[in-house]
Amino acid sequence: MIEINSLTKTYGVGGKAVHALNGIDLSIGSGMFGLLGPNGAGKTTFMRILAGIVNPSGGSIRVDGHDLTTEAGKQAVKSMLGYLPQELGMYPELTAEQFVDYMAILKGLDDPQKRKQRVAQVLDMVGLRDSAQRKIKGFSGGMKRRVGIAQALVNDPKLLIVDEPTAGLDPEERIRFRNLLVNLAADRVVLLSTHIVEDIGQTCRDVAVLSHGQVLFRGSPAELMKAASGHVWTLTMSGLEKPNHGLTVVSMLHLADGTQYRLVGSEVDEYPAAEEVQPGLEDGYVWLMKSAGQAVEFA
Ligand SMILES: Nc1ncnc2c1ncn2[C@@H]1O[C@H](COP(=O)(O)OP(=O)(O)OP(=O)(O)O)[C@@H](O)[C@H]1O
Ligand SMILES: [Mg+2]
Repeated sequence: MIEINSLTKTYGVGGKAVHALNGIDLSIGSGMFGLLGPNGAGKTTFMRILAGIVNPSGGSIRVDGHDLTTEAGKQAVKSMLGYLPQELGMYPELTAEQFVDYMAILKGLDDPQKRKQRVAQVLDMVGLRDSAQRKIKGFSGGMKRRVGIAQALVNDPKLLIVDEPTAGLDPEERIRFRNLLVNLAADRVVLLSTHIVEDIGQTCRDVAVLSHGQVLFRGSPAELMKAASGHVWTLTMSGLEKPNHGLTVVSMLHLADGTQYRLVGSEVDEYPAAEEVQPGLEDGYVWLMKSAGQAVEFA
């Protein structure tokens, strides 16, 4: 559905060029697609280009055949698109229903009767039917995020773009929100960005890892995990000793007889006591970053 070739974006900041996207090639099909990457990787820039808010500096981008570098293409894509920005300004004094209704008007749902129906329907879809008449200012983080999805769904988009929707949610809200997105992905493309690795593993069939405006990886979460095979170990060390020799500490656990480290790196020849373990998704991500020469230090 989405075809991207050699996409670049350069911002000019105070006379200096910031290269946010450095030649992205990507194709995205149906279902839920995860965009993973550290702060500043270019996730938001990428999504804003897809949403037609920001113009690319170079390259081509087609959504359902429409060329996003043309005005006509952008208009066509807008009508099939729902977007939840990383920071969506809401009006705290409005009720959920009033806010979504307001957004529906902005999106051109002119018929009051049809609009009322659709607003009720999307609030229902995100599980806010019983809170529709409550003011947004009293909502939890997860409820606000669901209002955000409701407004994005109001035009029944074929493509739903959500930028870091799970940041700041407690585990229960996060899982609930994640499940909502999975359900929505049953009959549309959902593009989700996050820097929470586990959000992707639980939900996305395909994932792209972005770093410094480039695609480091494109594949399934299982493939990302597998890439770290043979590069993950646990090692218990006593006293003040710490693992070194180019190994990245992914996690550590203080035990009675020392500290148990989980390590990712190319080899552990220096530590005969290290035991190889099966990689998890996070290990795969760390290994990928390390292999690309990107500094990852957690301890
Ligand atoms: N409007 C802008 N003007 C200038 N530079 C920008 C602008 N938006 C983003 N950038 C720069 O582009 C790069 C990519 O930023 P972007 O916000 O796309 O990354 P991100 O992956 O979404 O990061 P985060 O995880 O922090 O949200 C960064 O270096 C950022 O400073
Ligand atoms: Mg961002």
